[in-house]
Amino acid sequence: MFAKRTNWNLTLNRLSEALAAHRAAGKPLLDLTVSNPTECGFEYDSSGILNALSNPASLSYEPNPRGLESARRAVAGYYADRGENVPLEDIFLTTSTSEAYSYVFRTLCDPGDELLIPSPSYPLFDFLADVQDVKLVRYPLLYDHGWQIDFHALEQAITSRTRGVIVVHPNNPTGHYTKHAEIAKLNSICAVRGLAIIADEVFLDFALEGDRPASFAANRSAPTFTLSGLSKICGLPQMKAAWLIASGPQEWKREALARLEVIADTYLSVNAPVQLAIPKFFEQRHSFQGQVMSRIRTNLAELDRQLAAQKTVSRLRVEGGWCAVLRVPATRSDEDLAIGLLTTQGVSVHPGHFYDFPSTGHAIVSLIIPESKFKVGLERLVAQS
Ligand SMILES: Cc1ncc(COP(=O)(O)O)c(C=O)c1O
Repeated sequence: MFAKRTNWNLTLNRLSEALAAHRAAGKPLLDLTVSNPTECGFEYDSSGILNALSNPASLSYEPNPRGLESARRAVAGYYADRGENVPLEDIFLTTSTSEAYSYVFRTLCDPGDELLIPSPSYPLFDFLADVQDVKLVRYPLLYDHGWQIDFHALEQAITSRTRGVIVVHPNNPTGHYTKHAEIAKLNSICAVRGLAIIADEVFLDFALEGDRPASFAANRSAPTFTLSGLSKICGLPQMKAAWLIASGPQEWKREALARLEVIADTYLSVNAPVQLAIPKFFEQRHSFQGQVMSRIRTNLAELDRQLAAQKTVSRLRVEGGWCAVLRVPATRSDEDLAIGLLTTQGVSVHPGHFYDFPSTGHAIVSLIIPESKFKVGLERLVAQS
């Protein structure tokens, strides 16, 4: 009686089983995968956040498919601070980036249409696509002293069913930003073939190197949807507030906004107290981001210190984001390595295949873990590898 799209294999994989058993046995766990910022010991302006949620204006209901103007003004202000001009009418508020993806997928794709996604990348896409009846086709990212898009493979992957190209900027977990030359190339491919760029910028502000990376929100050379939200930018995933911006050729944008408006009006999903609090949430991002960047730099320095003392494990370049990709010996599967680490050392890491790495020999650790835990977890990882 159920739809085929929900025929997921929901049995636990060996690593999830081992983790569940480890937890059930009450054994101590040094979890190097934690990326929930509310669990990492950052200081938030708690009373400011809670006060912002009790605005008396939330006692009245003002439905607006794009979201309250005051909230969209705060989103536009965020881009203005980055030097990018985003008109208020081009912004739609959503409850999460995942919901924003679903609006975009519904706007662009009929059942069976295809979207290109980077590989490696974060694992939520498969479920999002299944739920929207969209087929995902992977294009590889290549590593050679840094990550880059394999444009030859990307172009080969385009078919008559392709509707868009997803870029994660910076990517999770590779941490690489789409460079100016890559943006220009993507624009020309997408403009010529009538494809949309779908840019996920949830980690945009967490750059470790070079100049501040440009956002896609002001990209006008090709049809573009830019997605971001408060879960990473402000460290507030529990507030369920994100957004979607359409930009691109004028005629295309008018049509896209009209269609998005119907989808958004059907749900009107973002609640009033959170929308009214969004300006305050943005204000406290500077303090949050400062703490995160300092944590990431300290953990990366510790990682490099420990890696310099041995030869078995190394790390890939990190341009930004909250993760580090470790190169580990490929003498067994990444899953076996992760299970071994868990059972012998009580340390949890993500195996490369979790993020769709095509070959073995990768483990992914979060860089936002409190420094003392990160140090000890890493010592055990290195000792075990
Ligand atoms: C690249 C990327 N996009 C989106 C999300 C989810 O964001 P949200 O909480 O707004 O749905 C995540 C969560 O980890 C992510 O890594």
